[in-house]
Amino acid sequence: MNKEEAKAKIAELSSIIENHNYNYYVLANPTISDYDFDMLLNELIALEQQFPELILPDSPTQRVGGDITKEFQTVKHRYPMLSLSNSYNIEEVKEFISRIKKTIEEEVEFVCELKFDGISISLTYENGLFVKAVTRGDGTQGDDVTANVKTIRTIPLRLKGDYPDFFEMRGEIIMPHSSFNAINAERDDLGLQPFANPRNAAAGTIKLQDSKEVAKRKLDQYCYFMMMDEDKMIFKNHYESLMTAKEWGFNVSNFMARCNNVEEIEDFINYWDKQRKELPFDIDGIVIKVNDFRQREILGFTSKSPRWAIAYKFKAEEARTKLLSVDFQVGRHGTITPVANLEPVQLAGTIVKRATLHNADFIEQLDLHYDDIVCVEKGGEIIPKITAVDLSQRKEYSEKVTFITKCPECGTSLVKADGETAWYCPNTLGCPPQIKGRIEHFISRKAMNIESLGEGKVEVLFDNNLIKDYSDLYDLTYEKLFGIEKTIVVDEINDITRKVSFKEKTANNIIEAIEKSKSVPFARVLFALGIKYVGETTAKLITKSMGSIDNIINATVEELTEIEEVGEKIALSIKDFFADERNIHIINRLKDARLQFEQEKKVASGNQVLSGMNIVVSGVFSTMSRDEIKQLIEDLGGKNVSSISKKTTFVLAGEKMGPEKRKKAESLGIEIKSEDGFLKMIGNIKTENQNPSYTQLELF
Ligand code: IVH
Repeated sequence: MNKEEAKAKIAELSSIIENHNYNYYVLANPTISDYDFDMLLNELIALEQQFPELILPDSPTQRVGGDITKEFQTVKHRYPMLSLSNSYNIEEVKEFISRIKKTIEEEVEFVCELKFDGISISLTYENGLFVKAVTRGDGTQGDDVTANVKTIRTIPLRLKGDYPDFFEMRGEIIMPHSSFNAINAERDDLGLQPFANPRNAAAGTIKLQDSKEVAKRKLDQYCYFMMMDEDKMIFKNHYESLMTAKEWGFNVSNFMARCNNVEEIEDFINYWDKQRKELPFDIDGIVIKVNDFRQREILGFTSKSPRWAIAYKFKAEEARTKLLSVDFQVGRHGTITPVANLEPVQLAGTIVKRATLHNADFIEQLDLHYDDIVCVEKGGEIIPKITAVDLSQRKEYSEKVTFITKCPECGTSLVKADGETAWYCPNTLGCPPQIKGRIEHFISRKAMNIESLGEGKVEVLFDNNLIKDYSDLYDLTYEKLFGIEKTIVVDEINDITRKVSFKEKTANNIIEAIEKSKSVPFARVLFALGIKYVGETTAKLITKSMGSIDNIINATVEELTEIEEVGEKIALSIKDFFADERNIHIINRLKDARLQFEQEKKVASGNQVLSGMNIVVSGVFSTMSRDEIKQLIEDLGGKNVSSISKKTTFVLAGEKMGPEKRKKAESLGIEIKSEDGFLKMIGNIKTENQNPSYTQLELF
């Protein structure tokens, strides 16, 4: 295919793919299978790799991220980003309407919309192309977060239809509950503090430096306000502008209503106050806007907000009750979470007895005392939270709640990591909840997948002294398991217990699943070990690069940080883990049980001319894509490393090799090989080895 043909094909594929994105994400109505979609995307990726100069900024491939923003540029808003004045009851909405009626005598139509609980964003479009996304900031200037915003699939990169040359679209970036729950589960797994709510998570995500990370977090966006220069405004009213925006490809909520009086507005508010629990994301109120643009102009603005709109904020359901005591729970990584025990109180349809207190700083901010009367709120979150203390009711000599200094489970002195809010118990291998938590992680689906041991069974085995760490699992027998029984607490917050008993079928299933786990690939075994900060993806990259557990154990911090996505924090955590003799002992026992501790290697039957060489690939190549070159290096026995060090054998440089890499190679005296030179070096091996037949490396 020549360049002209490629250009046309790239444009065609981009448009088809973006249309499928729109059907899937905005309309929630896909018209193609995931497989066929991936095929189209792969075709586009391959073409773009062949012709990198043809990659367009609005290409659907840009949605997966890749750009790193070191520092966000401050950008002045063309039109200031104002906020809305708030109202908390229908009387205040009535006052808002009468104020308007004083100025405008004719009929006024209102548009009621959901008030999305996220972060506001301004999107600039020029000639139908998305060019810039800026956060609200202080309303006058915000941060340019374009690279991150591009990853949000519901934001069109190129518009359809008849749009003006220049305009801004305002909207809200939100994090749906599904993404929020997944991220918090992963953070918990990695020993990181979970996000308090989806809004905080969205705010944290949009300011990440690595847009690839942003892409993974699956944000969403809704548009609610179009802005253009006054003399260019093509619409008469807001509703019309949003309906047209929808046709151009924007994600506009279907849940809007045009209302003519306060009764209709009140119905909309009441409906959504109840119904919001069913939405897949958080809203914190309703926005009521005058529809007609001419009327808006007459009404104008105050210094902070428009006079033609108001936000109605939902009341979070709240109750008052007494703080009885505080428990300190120990998590899987030893993090201590304080939990308040409350006098039972009815709230939003359930009886609340406990509420999270997050961490030591939170208790300090509340200046919490025992016997205090506290306000408990249930927002979108399942676990209720304490929002305030009623100081007027504080008993004179009540005792202040202080944070513990020793682990409540094992007595070890607690420590706090630099820059973190959480205290934790460092007795990783001797503290019961940490041991149980680690075993539970070990058996989880994405790790060793011994699911039949889930739902509290680990606790029963631990309490019966059958397992002290995860390597003991491999000593279990049917005889040891059969007949054990225990009632356990499965949900401490809501006081739910369950009786666990090991009958014939359960015992058999467990033994079978344990046996099966011996063939789980190395990357998942490494993830299962539960090394702090080593998540699923990192484990894959580490095993791919290091090849075996022994290589990982013996690697230096420098060698570990050469692995993609492994920074110093992760490297140090890995070193710490293997520096503990007890962990080495556990690994040895797991090796005896014949778990997979080596990367399944594809062994090429052909020439191994690059054997023992560490090669850094940089730039763009003319005969092959980067991935093909990397595969070829592996096929020929070489190792791909991501950064240049003294151990690098040579750098394979294509066009546009990064200047930093070149400098580093030169300063270390590492050879820089051209594509031609490389092909000569490997001779005709490429053609010989194109379809190498692989044999599975026998392990142990
Ligand atoms: S209109 C001139 N519509 O609420 C004001 N805002 O306090 C333009 N918000 O900063 C905003 N949903 O981040 C508007 N349907 C909606 C909204 C909405 C959420 C946010 C927005 C704004 C804040 C106002």
